[in-house]
Formats: sequence, C-alpha cells, structure tokens
Amino acid sequence: MPTTTSSAPAWLHSIAVVGLGKIGLPLAVQYARHGYKVIGCDSNSQVVERLYAGESHIQEEPSLSSEVPQLVYAGLLSATTNIAKAIREVDVVVVIVPVGIDSEHQVDTTQIDAATSAIGANLQPGTLVIYETTLPVGTTARHLRTLLEQTSQLQAGTDFYLAYSPERVSSGTIFHDLRAYPKVVGGIDVESTTRTIAFYRSVLDAEIIPMASTDEAEFVKLIEATYRDVNIALANEYACYADAHNLDVYATIAAANTQPYAHIHTPGVGVGGHCIPVYPYFLFSNPYDHSQLSQAYTDQHTLALPRQARHINDAMAEYAIQRLEDVVGPLLQQSVLLLGVAYRGNVRETAFTSAKLLQTALTRRGAICYVDDALFSMDELCTLGYTALPPNAENKIVAIILQCHHSIYQQFDFTRFKQCKVVLDGRHALCRTTVEAAGMHYITVGDGHYKVKHEPFE
Ligand SMILES: NC(=O)c1ccc[n+]([C@@H]2O[C@H](COP(=O)([O-])OP(=O)(O)OC[C@H]3O[C@@H](n4cnc5c(N)ncnc54)[C@H](O)[C@@H]3O)[C@@H](O)[C@H]2O)c1
Repeated sequence: MPTTTSSAPAWLHSIAVVGLGKIGLPLAVQYARHGYKVIGCDSNSQVVERLYAGESHIQEEPSLSSEVPQLVYAGLLSATTNIAKAIREVDVVVVIVPVGIDSEHQVDTTQIDAATSAIGANLQPGTLVIYETTLPVGTTARHLRTLLEQTSQLQAGTDFYLAYSPERVSSGTIFHDLRAYPKVVGGIDVESTTRTIAFYRSVLDAEIIPMASTDEAEFVKLIEATYRDVNIALANEYACYADAHNLDVYATIAAANTQPYAHIHTPGVGVGGHCIPVYPYFLFSNPYDHSQLSQAYTDQHTLALPRQARHINDAMAEYAIQRLEDVVGPLLQQSVLLLGVAYRGNVRETAFTSAKLLQTALTRRGAICYVDDALFSMDELCTLGYTALPPNAENKIVAIILQCHHSIYQQFDFTRFKQCKVVLDGRHALCRTTVEAAGMHYITVGDGHYKVKHEPFE
C-alpha cells in the first residue's frame, strides 16, 4: 500500500488533477502512489466513468491497468466531472488540459480557459494551483492568473499560490521519465515556488530545478521542443545537401555524432505530433508577449531560425515526392501508397502528421493517394480524410512511401505490389534488401541519389 513520504509538507493532504488524459491519469496515479488522496477531474464523462469503475482508459502505460484499480479500491484515487466540488476539497490543483494551435497557427487556449474558470469559481484560500500544460511565455503570470483572480475574487500570492512546471515526460515512458528528468518549477512569488517545490519533493524522486519566474519555467519547455525542430531541420538540410552531392547523410551524421559536441537528429519526410511542430508557434504567435522590443524589430530579428526550421521541415514532404518522381517520372494519375498515417511509429495519433503534407503534395500533382495503417479502421481513415487501399488497387501502385514506422512494417509484404517500382523509406527504418528482393528500388531522403552510385534506374 502506498504511504505518504517523510518529506510530506504538513499542509498537503489531497490533490486534484484537472485533465485525465495521456499525461493527467499517470500523474494522478503517481501522486496517489505516495499516499495522497487524488481526485481526477475531466469534462469527458466516459473517461470519468471508466476510472470510477477502476479501469484505465490509457493504454500507452502498461502498469496503469493494474495500478488504477488498486488505487481506486484503496480510496486514494477517484474521478469526477464535478470539478467545482473537487476544487473545494483539495490543497493542490495540477492542471494538464491541452493548449494547441488553430489552422492559422494561432494559440488556442479554449480548453484551459474553461478549466481555469471552473477552478477559479471554486478556489479556496490557501490552495496551490500548478499549471503543467505547455504554454506560451507569460500565460500563467498574466492570462491564467487574471482569469483565476476574476473568477475567484481572490488575490494570487496573497490568498492562493500559483506556479508553472512544464511536463517533460513522453507518452509511453511516463513513470520512467518522472524519475529521470528534473522537474522545472517557477512560481509567481517566493512562497508559490517554495510550496511547489515541497509538493513535488513529496510526490517525485527527481531533482527539482527552481526558476526565477513562471515565464522562465514556460520558456524551458519551448526551448526543448524548438531545439528538436531546428535540429531536425538541420538534419533535413544535410539530407538535401547529401542528395545533391552523392553522399549518404545517415552514415555521415552517424560518424559526425561520434564527436561529443554533435547531436544531429535524423532526417525524414516531415515532423508531426502535438509538440515539436506546434510549440515553436507558441514563440512566434504569443498573445501574452510583453517584449520590450518594438514589434518591427521583433519581427525582423528574433526567432528567424525556428521560423525557417518550421518551413524546412514542412517542405520535406514536397521534396520527398520530387525524389519519387526522379525514379518513376510524373505522378499524374499514378497511384501511390502511404504506409502509416500516425505522426510516429506505433501510436494511434495523427496530430500534425506528415501524412497530410505528403497526401497534399501527391494530389497537387494529380496522383491518387492511398493509405495503409493497421492501427486505424477503414472508417477512421475515411473520417481522417484518407482513402484506405482497396485490395483491387494493389496492382495499380507505382510507388510506396513509409511515412511512419509502425513495427509491423518490418514484416510488410512488398511482393503484393506487382507494378510498384520504388519504395521511399521516409524514416530510414526498412530493410533495403527486403525491398530490393521484391524487385523495387529503395530510396530515402539523403541517401545521395543512390541510383547514381549503383545500378541506373530504368
Ligand atoms: N501527450 C504527451 O506526450 C505530452 C508530453 C508532455 C507534456 N504534455 C502536455 O500535456 C498536455 C495534455 O496532454 P495529453 O496528451 O494528456 O492530452 P489528452 O488529450 O490525452 O488529455 C486531455 C484531457 O483533458 C480533458 N479536458 C479538456 N478540457 C477540459 C476541461 N475544461 N476540464 C477538465 N478536463 C478537460 C480532456 O477530456 C482529456 O481527457 C498537452 O497539451 C501538453 O501540454 C503532453
């Protein structure tokens, strides 16, 4: 049975986690494991009903299926859609409700605003509110603080405590990451920071890194995500250079990375997901920006590299299709199969997937784009705007693109596609000899136009 740790602060007895999604439910379990009474709040009644019945709706973390029922039956973990009641009963509120971007790449705070208003309307004096959602710099200290104060009629720093701590874990390895990655913390004042550190010391084993402000703590997470986007863009630029100069980018990056200061990521046909292609926009389109520089200066001089990286990474789909055309010629009325619509291998998620950019690049040329993804049903693929490959279309496929590397594609039977001339391995994950044994050319972005060095393509 879990027990409260010796470092438990005297004021801490119960915790609300607002947003019981892929990250919120594991966090609720992590806190309940330490002996605290945890109430999970979610606006989705199905999520709450399943947890209430002692079931985990999150499949990515294997231990949840056994831990959730144990903690529910022990009375340490419960769930509710009644956020008002929950907030009135707890000492700490951890908010992990998404913030995303809209089709114009503008920050969309609709969900977290709704959650914040509900929290504020029921906030009790002395409560500590911690936001963990990735946010544009300034969101906690200006926007969310104001919302909480308006809805609660309480004063942050005087009547309640407020802090930001970015959630740095990855879905699928959350409990490992919670132990391994230091917890970055920034409060709106010293007491908020101190209480937040005390809270995390009592529920996590990781090192804690205090920052000077919520703004700095928010900036940390944006730096991490944007670094990866820029790094991948550099790898993609190297891939294009390698193609132009008849070099193998994968071999050369691997050799370069043996030097301890080089950490170049892997090139590919694009960057997808909720984080890497999204959070750079939190820097460019920040509604809470209080920069002291003039807007003209800011537009011209700041963040040029991340902006360019976004452009480079989104342009890789177009580049990949050009590589295909080098092999099969114009794609007008030709059928192409995309393997994988998910944004990364072995996940059933499609946020900002490169499959969309590839599909657009193909249809712009008048090609017919079919998809395969065993993690989605035919109906789901249709709803997502794709055409699943019908069995009678196999003989029309002239090219295949591996867009995301589900492990099942290691066993994919390429011999079914009798007319297929080329496979573009967009994630450098397939076995070249398997593809070539099926009578097809194997190419990747950055392989140095393999055809030039080896046999000529017909
Ligand atoms: N998914 C990841 O890998 C990951 C990694 C690190 C950090 N994060 C951060 O965590 C945030 C949440 O990610 P997630 O993957 O858990 O999202 P998710 O979509 O799996 O879960 C979000 C949950 O919030 C609930 N919700 C929405 N509005 C609500 C409201 N007003 N009141 C109560 N509940 C509400 C939804 O019903 C849903 O269950 C992200 O926006 C990101 O900032 C995510």
